[in-house]
Amino acid sequence: MRGLLRRCGRLCRGLYARIALVYLTSLLLLSVATAWIAISQFNQLTRELQQRMEIDLARNLAQVMQPALWQGAESDAARDMARHILSINPSLSLYVLDENGRVIADYADSACGLGQRVDPSPLETLLGDEPMLPVLVTAPCGDEPGIFSVAPIRHGEERRPGYLYADLDNAGQASMFAMLRTSSITRTLVAAGLMALLISGVFGLVWFALLTRRFSRLTTAVQRFADGDYGQRIATPRDDELGRLARAFNDMAGTIEAQLQAMRETDRQRRELIANLSHDFRTPLTSLRGYAEQLLATVTVEEQGRRRMLTAILDNADRLTRLAQQLSTLARLDADDRPLQREPFSLAELAHDIVGKFQHQAGEAGIALTVACDPSLPRVDADLGLIDRLLSNLIDNALRATPAGGRVRLDAEALPEGVRLAVTDNGVGIAAEELPLVTQRFYRTRASLARGDGSGLGLSIVREICERHGVAWKLVSSPGEGTEVSVTLPRA
Ligand SMILES: Nc1ncnc2c1ncn2[C@@H]1O[C@H](COP(=O)(O)OP(=O)(O)OP(=O)(O)O)[C@@H](O)[C@H]1O
Ligand SMILES: [Mg+2]
Repeated sequence: MRGLLRRCGRLCRGLYARIALVYLTSLLLLSVATAWIAISQFNQLTRELQQRMEIDLARNLAQVMQPALWQGAESDAARDMARHILSINPSLSLYVLDENGRVIADYADSACGLGQRVDPSPLETLLGDEPMLPVLVTAPCGDEPGIFSVAPIRHGEERRPGYLYADLDNAGQASMFAMLRTSSITRTLVAAGLMALLISGVFGLVWFALLTRRFSRLTTAVQRFADGDYGQRIATPRDDELGRLARAFNDMAGTIEAQLQAMRETDRQRRELIANLSHDFRTPLTSLRGYAEQLLATVTVEEQGRRRMLTAILDNADRLTRLAQQLSTLARLDADDRPLQREPFSLAELAHDIVGKFQHQAGEAGIALTVACDPSLPRVDADLGLIDRLLSNLIDNALRATPAGGRVRLDAEALPEGVRLAVTDNGVGIAAEELPLVTQRFYRTRASLARGDGSGLGLSIVREICERHGVAWKLVSSPGEGTEVSVTLPRA
């Protein structure tokens, strides 16, 4: 349900929803405006027709009423005559106006128009030659301009000029609305209008859907490409703007994919080169080291100069061997396609082996290297070769950062979530500002640069081994006091 709502929300925010909303709103506004114009024009037309048909009504009535009007507009004879006429057509309103348009006789029962004034100029317009119909004026009892019929009369014994005014609007309006309601033409027109509205609405929505579907296909392809699916292409049969855009995207995607492949290939070749070089370095280095050691064994105590040179050769061979080893591990870690070779093994055994390997180096440097591992520790599940490198790097770092007389300890303890390993030293430590940098490749601390050892790869290898195993590790250090690096490996 929530997914449906989310999709609905995405759709409503989408281009199609916006276009559809704007289109439907304009269609609705246009329909309302058209209906309004049609109704008002129809109204005007019916008024015109009605006024045209009944333009002579007042003249005819005036002829009938004229003898009675000579006795006065308010005379009994005039009233009787008017009553008789109104009884035949009750929706009619009849007034006698003086020459200024003032009502001097209202023959309706309410007599609401008496004393009111009607603008005489529209009356004169209607009485003129070929008036433009409809001519409107506000009737004595009315609020808005309406149609009428008017005729000049003479009233009273003085034969004063005036008008006989017949209000046609009430009767006309009523009959117009009745006609609108009951006319089959109106019904057909309304039905046709609604049908046209529906058809254009559906047609427009379908057309916009087709248009935006191509657009959203393009957006999806670009999005997928941005997410790393570099094989994304768009089928583009048409030759319009969207088609050209899609073709441009396809060309661009093709170029980027080709460049990426070339880059991957170069990267693979570089990794292979490093792996091969670091491997190939080891054999001549081992042989070089062997010969140098043999030579050193033959050098007498007096030959100090030769001894120094051979020791320097051995030191440099050691550095190169270590560098080759680090590079070979890095090349292996960089090759994402090579999976970890996980296996269950005893950390206690590994810890003792590695500490044993470093005992000679520690003894020469005057450092106490100890291991505190319970042999009954649970076995862990990890890549033995990589964990060996991780521990060797940590102990190597600790030994080189610790002055003579110091101590380096390797502890392992069982925790509910795995086995925690920690390498602790009381050496020079790492300055706080350098802590975030030491795991970068080739970064060496100021202390290390002063000593002139290391290549700055060890801790970056430690970090990558932990990342590949998906385990957390922690480096705590305070300058002058020492460093502790710990990592927790999962139980087998
Ligand atoms: N326990 C430690 N105490 C003090 N400094 C350390 C410690 N461990 C690492 N460092 C310093 O952190 C920096 C990064 O260490 P890293 O192991 O990555 O490189 P390295 O030891 O210089 O070279 P490599 O390990 O590749 O031979 C080095 O300058 C190193 O001296
Ligand atoms: Mg190191």
